[in-house]
Amino acid sequence: MEEADLFYRQLPKVELHAHLNGSVSFSTIEKLVARKPHLNIEHGMTAIRSGQRRTLDEADIPIICQRKRRRGQRAGCFVRTRRRCFQVFKVIHQLVDTEEDILMVAKDVIREFAADGVKYLELRSTPRKEKTTGMTKRRYVETVIEAIRQCKNEGVDIEVRFLVAVDRRNGAEVAMETVKLAEDFMLSTGGLVVGLDLSGDPTVGHGRDFLPALQKAKNCGLKLSLHLSEVPSQADESELLLNIPPDRIGHGTFLHPEVGGSQSLVDKVRKHNTPLELCLTSNVKGQTVSSYSQHHFLYWYQMGHPSVICTDDKGVFCTDLSQEYQLAASTFNLSQEDMWTLSHKAIDCTFAPDLQQQLHQKWLELQPTLFQL
Ligand code: IMP
Ligand code: ZN
Repeated sequence: MEEADLFYRQLPKVELHAHLNGSVSFSTIEKLVARKPHLNIEHGMTAIRSGQRRTLDEADIPIICQRKRRRGQRAGCFVRTRRRCFQVFKVIHQLVDTEEDILMVAKDVIREFAADGVKYLELRSTPRKEKTTGMTKRRYVETVIEAIRQCKNEGVDIEVRFLVAVDRRNGAEVAMETVKLAEDFMLSTGGLVVGLDLSGDPTVGHGRDFLPALQKAKNCGLKLSLHLSEVPSQADESELLLNIPPDRIGHGTFLHPEVGGSQSLVDKVRKHNTPLELCLTSNVKGQTVSSYSQHHFLYWYQMGHPSVICTDDKGVFCTDLSQEYQLAASTFNLSQEDMWTLSHKAIDCTFAPDLQQQLHQKWLELQPTLFQL
């Protein structure tokens, strides 16, 4: 391993934006495929490897995407590409449909983040009911919590908290039920469930439909992390959702005026100092950002705004958090000290205030050895 790789692997890190089923690694997929050979699923159907960005363009995206992108044509292009990404989750969900699968997947994902030097992880996942296997949404969440507890008992060196996810595709009524479920678990798990996520295909539904559920979640003490302005033309929705306000923002790709957002959206984010969860490879491979150097990380980082580097779906996008830190450093010419500060500041953006002091301590203990590499 090269010295720079080793630095980013050993750098203590905080992961705040990781969807459970998007984080499933190649080796876990292999185990799942062996359990369900009848599904005829190959790894190429569950991950987008490097260089596959172009394949997405060519395979399914209308011809306008291959022409020089003119402003008015961009939205349609993004929509089709994102949809393609969401097909991948459907395949993974077929492979992960029993409590046994969830337990294995969650434990593997937690261990992998720990092996990558992540000291604090917030996992998020959408509770799923599977008629064929008898899995209920409640058992789904219980199983993820069980995985977190088992990893802790086995001495895996990582603190894990859980966000219950609302998939916007399922509408307002399901969102409200999910908030109730999340509240129950927040109260019964001794603080392992800390918040609610709003995610799913951003081109489906409108954020206004979820306002009552999100407001209820906030009122009962759940922290809110909302996928916001992930695709263009969501300015109205973002305006509404930022009024709640959320505790963190996922992506926020099209918030700023240079990409069709507005100063008023930026001002709202700045006013509440709402941290952004930024996922470079996810956005480049999902084609909401044209290249690493064009990523909005720089816009927010240069402003000194709380910006946390995350993976989103490390399995689907074939990455890990060390690699994302290294990519941000090389793309934006940041030093190892800058990256240290970035990972250290991420602690203040977690939804576990009770752990923050302990995490700061850990970072300070690890600092001398890291910089003697
Ligand atoms: P799960 O919730 O653990 O099943 O993880 C997969 C789910 O996360 C997908 O079905 C989406 O609802 C959500 N998801 C993963 N990546 C993204 C993203 O980039 N944008 C919005 N939603 C996402
Ligand atoms: Zn996400």
